[in-house]
Amino acid sequence: MHEVEGCAGSPRSPVAQRPAAARRGTRRYARTLCALLAPAFAAMFGTALADVAARNDSELKAALAAAPDAARGASLYGTCAACHGPDGGGVADGSIPAIAGQPQRVLVKQLADFRRSQRLDVRMEHFADRRHLGGAQDIADVAAYAATLSRTTAAGIGDGTMLAAGGRAWIGRCAGCHGGTGQANAARALPRLAGQHAAYLERQLLDTVAGRRPNMAATHRGVLNGLDPAEITGIADYLSRMK
Ligand code: HEC
Ligand code: HEC
Repeated sequence: MHEVEGCAGSPRSPVAQRPAAARRGTRRYARTLCALLAPAFAAMFGTALADVAARNDSELKAALAAAPDAARGASLYGTCAACHGPDGGGVADGSIPAIAGQPQRVLVKQLADFRRSQRLDVRMEHFADRRHLGGAQDIADVAAYAATLSRTTAAGIGDGTMLAAGGRAWIGRCAGCHGGTGQANAARALPRLAGQHAAYLERQLLDTVAGRRPNMAATHRGVLNGLDPAEITGIADYLSRMK
């Protein structure tokens, strides 16, 4: 597991002590490397998933009820920064999503889902586990910090070919909940989709349709099931271009 901890570039790692410019370069490199190493991670962690045993809702409820401390969350975020970037902007190729500025409770829900294998990604399940985030308070704090970040990483967009179909489908089927411009709505626990990397969005839509996000509401899955492939690609592209 130590190689992976190095990949995470935690604040204690030597990476953090080097000059800022070199550090940024190294981080970019580390993020690319992390993305490229995904299949290897999958092989390494596949067996460790028993540790991410299915849990009930009590941790999610406790994390949502906790009084979040963003300053404490900043130090926990050191691990996350290696992949999601110090600005929380993720990677434009969509391998890693932007999380900056998402409502705290949206982030808490996703972290809790990864912790109980309701969202499946070996890297995230590993870094959201109990060794990295001890409990409900840590989840609340790191989410509160990520919510305060403002991105400098530009969104990765699609190729533009399916935009018209995507725009129509978005307005017709999705905007009623997510709003025309895909902004966050903390009160309704709606994630911000505007400006998210297109390839990431497309993957989430396909994963949800394929049943790989079991904790996504059944009604939501139903709406996504009604989309054809062109609409899925187009919606992802359409949203990625929004500010
Ligand atoms: C090794 C790389 C890596 C590290 C480290 C990492 N993440 Fe992630 N994270 C990912 C990937 C990859 C995804 C997308 C998974 C997918 O496609 O479903 C993701 C997804 C997420 C999401 C879901 C975003 C959304 O829009 O639904 C959240 C929230 C998140 N990460 C938060 C964190 C936090 C907080 C930390 C630190 C405790 C962290 N991540 C550490 C790679 C990483
Ligand atoms: C009934 C209201 C509703 C409708 C209609 C709806 N959504 Fe959602 N959507 C939500 C909520 C709530 C969430 C947060 C789900 C969660 O907690 O995992 C969400 C999450 C998402 C996510 C996950 C983002 C991430 O990274 O985790 C995507 C992508 C998405 N919606 C796309 C769409 C698209 C595309 C449509 C139209 C085809 C659509 N939604 C229609 C309410 C809705």
